Amino acid sequence: MPEIRQLVYLSQAVVSTPAALASILKSARSRNEREKISGMLLFNNGQFMQCLEGSPEKVGAVYQAISKDDRHDHLAILLDHIIPRRDFDSWLMAFKDLSLDRTFSDEDDVIEADFLQAMSPQGKGVTLLASFARL
Ligand SMILES: Cc1cc2nc3c(=O)[nH]c(=O)nc-3n(C[C@H](O)[C@H](O)[C@H](O)COP(=O)(O)O)c2cc1C
Repeated sequence: MPEIRQLVYLSQAVVSTPAALASILKSARSRNEREKISGMLLFNNGQFMQCLEGSPEKVGAVYQAISKDDRHDHLAILLDHIIPRRDFDSWLMAFKDLSLDRTFSDEDDVIEADFLQAMSPQGKGVTLLASFARL
């Protein structure tokens, strides 16, 4: 079984318009598909929390690119560990904008309200994202 690295970070958004978020997601998803990276990106209260999962080298490389992206700053890694199986296997990069005053019109980008309940309940990554979603 290949090793899966799971990395969760928190950052301060520099951009937050729906168009900017959609553009981030678009670039993220095409690379993640190539690199077999799964995870979830949440936007809430001007902050991003993202979980990245995949081969250790690929997660490291994508995080390097993400950390240099000027659409956010003040990145802080909250979790970086090896896990037996992915928490977000069925997604390429799930996304949810938790700002109350905004909904994403593109159906593919919207996750149902119970989106985190379907995930592995003991996963540390899921637990962190779930607590961020409740902020
Ligand atoms: C909050 C945020 C999350 C991002 N998530 C990803 C991601 O999951 N995968 C990805 O490839 N790029 C992601 N990006 C975009 C990368 O920072 C970068 O623009 C993209 O990987 C292209 O990098 P490159 O030009 O070095 O190839 C994200 C950017 C931001 C601001």
